[in-house]
Amino acid sequence: MKFFIDTANLAQIKEANELSILDGVTTNPSLMAKEGIKGDKNVKRHYLEICKLVDGDVSAEVIATDYESMIHEGEELAILHPNIVVKVPCIKEGIRAIKYFTKKGIKTNCTLVFSLGQALLAAKAGATYVSPFVGRLDDISTDGVDLIRQIVDVYNYYNYDTQVIAASIRHTMHIIQCLEVGADVVTCPLSAIVGLLKHPLTDSGLATFLADHKRVNNE
Ligand code: G3P
Repeated sequence: MKFFIDTANLAQIKEANELSILDGVTTNPSLMAKEGIKGDKNVKRHYLEICKLVDGDVSAEVIATDYESMIHEGEELAILHPNIVVKVPCIKEGIRAIKYFTKKGIKTNCTLVFSLGQALLAAKAGATYVSPFVGRLDDISTDGVDLIRQIVDVYNYYNYDTQVIAASIRHTMHIIQCLEVGADVVTCPLSAIVGLLKHPLTDSGLATFLADHKRVNNE
């Protein structure tokens, strides 16, 4: 399973990358806004900064919602760096745009996916990735991890190449659950990745090892 970090914060991306397990980055317009990144030039500059930090796929989302503008915007993003993946919302025009990008050899991430039917359309259009939102489904009393399971099963059954990114991950248990149902990628906040390391028995065990070493070495 690949690990992406879901943020536009350069310090957090750097910290996650230093763990040496990071495979890519996903962003969205809300995450860019959170960092105060505005204006076409600054947005593009920011994507390039991210690409310089991480050697892996970096999803950059289009703002346009009509076909022609999505194509224009997506092509401009794609030429920024070979690792850019054009992130496109799962709407009618978006599915058409994904098909276009696929034919052109441009990588895509179909986002805002909340159902198996949407994931099917994304795969049929040739999306490189599909991003079902686990946390946002859980927020409305619907099992987000179960959607990941359904999509993984169907993609495997029909041999679709589209990779499933479990998105809208809120905590470490989401990561574990998505791992168990076979997600290809999880994209998560830094806190959830770092949370995987936490175990009280590791901390107390290490403290004992160090204390015993110190005792016999008269330190
Ligand atoms: O990148 C999309 C997704 O991960 C959003 O997460 O926490 O805003 O639902 P969240």
